[in-house]
Amino acid sequence: MKLPPHRLLLAAILLLRCAMCTFSAKNCPNCGTTPVPYPFSTAPACGDPQYKIRCNSGTLLFDTLNSSYPVMSINPSIQRLVIQPASLLPNTCVTSDYIYEGISLNESLPFNITSDNTIMFLNCTESLLRSPLNCTSTSLCHVYVNSTKGEAPCQAAPICCTFRAGGSSTAHRIMVRDTGCRAYTSFVDLDSVLPVDKWSNPGLAIEWVLPQEPVCGSQADCDGNSTCGPAANLSGVRRCYCTGGLHWDPIQGICAHDATCQNDGSCGGSTKTALIAGTSLVIIQDG
Ligand SMILES: *[C@@H]1O[C@H](CO)[C@@H](O)[C@H](O)[C@H]1NC(C)=O
Ligand SMILES: *[C@@H]1O[C@H](CO)[C@@H](O)[C@H](O)[C@H]1NC(C)=O
Ligand SMILES: *[C@@H]1O[C@H](CO)[C@@H](O)[C@H](O)[C@H]1NC(C)=O
Ligand SMILES: *[C@@H]1O[C@H](CO)[C@@H](O)[C@H](O)[C@H]1NC(C)=O
Ligand SMILES: *[C@@H]1O[C@H](CO)[C@@H](O)[C@H](O)[C@H]1NC(C)=O
Ligand SMILES: *[C@@H]1O[C@H](CO)[C@@H](O)[C@H](O)[C@H]1NC(C)=O
Ligand SMILES: *[C@@H]1O[C@H](CO)[C@@H](O)[C@H](O)[C@H]1NC(C)=O
Ligand SMILES: *[C@@H]1O[C@H](CO)[C@@H](O)[C@H](O)[C@H]1NC(C)=O
Repeated sequence: MKLPPHRLLLAAILLLRCAMCTFSAKNCPNCGTTPVPYPFSTAPACGDPQYKIRCNSGTLLFDTLNSSYPVMSINPSIQRLVIQPASLLPNTCVTSDYIYEGISLNESLPFNITSDNTIMFLNCTESLLRSPLNCTSTSLCHVYVNSTKGEAPCQAAPICCTFRAGGSSTAHRIMVRDTGCRAYTSFVDLDSVLPVDKWSNPGLAIEWVLPQEPVCGSQADCDGNSTCGPAANLSGVRRCYCTGGLHWDPIQGICAHDATCQNDGSCGGSTKTALIAGTSLVIIQDG
């Protein structure tokens, strides 16, 4: 990393005031005991409104176009949340979201279905045999359905298919319907070498696009470290842009210092040594 001299000076000053590296974010309060990390928004006054999520008596719910699913986990550092896929209707191989044709994400929102998901379509029609999905008799879905952990009612349905999500056609949809398959399930980061009883519970991983700076109407909507200004593309949208020496940190949802002890690893060490090391690195690169 090559820093211009004024940035280096700034970094040096900031290293010496490491205790004040960041300020607090407008995070939403916990949902029951579950933290609601930025950018998720359970109420208009917190989080980013593009990333709505519902808190229903201590459980976070992710809304799709036609239904909603419990959130199993959220990992802000990789922008991934895992929802619990629909379960089967009693004694049938038909998922409860069949009436909604499965899962459809609103394509205008910053979410998509990741390629970490191994999807199993169950109770399929013969038309699926002509699809690019793996619907052979050795397909992993048969191994799953046959196992004790599997969905027993689906053993009576001869055709099932397995595929890895993430293509453009599955980025926002997992479609169940009468002319295709009537049920599905999904596994995140599945290691197919493991026996089924070692698999984790079904889950569907969804990724989010990192949020931009918060939208503002006036300066009153921004905190002391940011200024309400027009977006660069002249769209008419105004956002809280971080002021000098600070940059937008889309993971924490705050204006953070451009160079901090946290991101150069010098926290807790001698700031003087870190500074000298940093300076010589720049000199070597410049020379
Ligand atoms: C498969 O789906 C059909 C159509 O919805 C349903 O009638 C049938 O019961 C399902 N098969 C099983 C084994 O549940
Ligand atoms: C799902 O919701 C969308 C948007 O509200 C609607 O257009 C569509 O008809 C719904 N689909 C089903 C199967 O209910
Ligand atoms: C999809 O999201 C956009 C942006 O928030 C919203 O305006 C639109 O109404 C949503 N569509 C449906 C069908 O809910
Ligand atoms: C289908 O999946 C099975 C099990 O993973 C694999 O052995 C087989 O080669 C796959 N077949 C095709 C056509 O991809
Ligand atoms: C699953 O069970 C069926 C019926 O018992 C059997 O015919 C089939 O070979 C099994 N498939 C796999 C992949 O274990
Ligand atoms: C899903 O969203 C991520 C993050 O914005 C993006 O990198 C990826 O290309 C998207 N995948 C698809 C299939 O649209
Ligand atoms: C602005 O940032 C400084 C230093 O990072 C911090 O001490 C202060 O609390 C922040 N101000 C606001 C209004 O968040
Ligand atoms: C312009 O920026 C706004 C806000 O930053 C964004 O919502 C919008 O999609 C952008 N429009 C275009 C055409 O890039």
